Amino acid sequence: MTAERARITVFDTTLRDGEQSPGCSMNQQEKLRLAHQLDRLGVDVIEAGFPIASDGDFESVKAIASVVRRPIIAGLARACRPDIERAWEALRDAAHPRIHVFLATSDIHLHYKLRITRDQCVEQAREAIRFAKSLCDDVEFSPEDATRTDPDFLCRVLEAVVEAGATTLNIPDTVGYTVPTEFGDLITTIRQRVKGIENATISAHCHNDLGMAVANALAAVAAGARQVECTINGIGERAGNASLEEIVMAMRVRPDRFAYETGIVGEQIFAASQMLSEVTGVPVQPNKAITGRNAFAHEAGIHQDGILKNPLTYEIMTPKSVGVPDSKLVLGKHSGRHALSIRCEQLGYQFDRRGLDDIYRRFVRLADKIKHVEDHHLLELIRDTHKPSGSATPLIEPLAVAKAAAVNASSPEAVPEPEPSKPFPVGPQTNAFGVPLPVHGDSHHEQTQQEDYLWGV
Ligand code: KIV
Ligand code: ZN
Repeated sequence: MTAERARITVFDTTLRDGEQSPGCSMNQQEKLRLAHQLDRLGVDVIEAGFPIASDGDFESVKAIASVVRRPIIAGLARACRPDIERAWEALRDAAHPRIHVFLATSDIHLHYKLRITRDQCVEQAREAIRFAKSLCDDVEFSPEDATRTDPDFLCRVLEAVVEAGATTLNIPDTVGYTVPTEFGDLITTIRQRVKGIENATISAHCHNDLGMAVANALAAVAAGARQVECTINGIGERAGNASLEEIVMAMRVRPDRFAYETGIVGEQIFAASQMLSEVTGVPVQPNKAITGRNAFAHEAGIHQDGILKNPLTYEIMTPKSVGVPDSKLVLGKHSGRHALSIRCEQLGYQFDRRGLDDIYRRFVRLADKIKHVEDHHLLELIRDTHKPSGSATPLIEPLAVAKAAAVNASSPEAVPEPEPSKPFPVGPQTNAFGVPLPVHGDSHHEQTQQEDYLWGV
């Protein structure tokens, strides 16, 4: 029997916090396009913007609220009447509106930024939530800079806003300062000490300044948070927010550690990532987990060989499960003959062992110079390596032709292959410890794979 898994609400803030990252601002049309994709992706909440920030953002939130009907649509507001009114104006046509109110609670922010006392802070938060609640049933409160706030004071503020009607308490690690164990402990403290907490959902909003946003969000969930705030590709203020795809896939790939469910449609992840990158013009970091172009690419010979034998050797999730068309074998200087021969076959060329030796040596030299060997380079190399010298019969032909030719291999017209100057590998095979390896004389392919392994070592 499988244990019940807790359902985690995915609150996507790509269109609000994500938009605050340099170079990522979006116009109404762009936000609408992404909002539809977030809907297809299955997020529970779309934070569509900060309506008081500009007329453009107000209109964007309003447009999304009127056409994207399944998820909750949230709008951000500071803890003051004009912001909350403006947010409500933008959200009122939504099928499921949410007003998200925030107010800083750390002493640093109270003293230097807001210039108010702790008592004033509690009163302002309480009043703001009461007012928001008079307009909208679904109200979220965020104590900005919560992780640098005195925990006693944080609990006091949270108690006041729950009493005033907040239904979600979002705990932001605004400056990306916390670490997983500490953040988990904070969530536990809140659950134990805040009166009325059982009437609210605890949420985590983590920034990535120390590269721990996803780990912190997962620690919060393990401690009882039931909403995570995140963005596609992890975009957001400074180093960004916790990445949606990383949180979701951590739960899917490691249910033994994170036994939680989300409503995310994994196959829509890559499309969302690509659309965001296209709309903002900000490329995805190549080695970005899940959505980077190298996330399912393999260059090392040993890895390529393993992937070709069984993808489980080096892939912990299928590319398909996150909507990536297929894993890619990148041909570079670390690649082995197994991957090279498969790519050659895909391009329509099949070689015997010596032919592959030839190509392989030249391929490695080329890869040393140009890093990635693309298909057109390979084709050039093949043609050049096997250029008929004065002979009218090409040595290398497209696969179909080569196969037909093999039938007549014993014919007197067959052109002899050139002897490679330094065939690889030579002599009896031993493994990395010098132990002789079995020779699979009856299977050329198998032998090539073993050589690949050795070459990589
Ligand atoms: O990082 C933060 O504190 C925020 C709040 C507005 C939730 O984005
Ligand atoms: Zn934030």
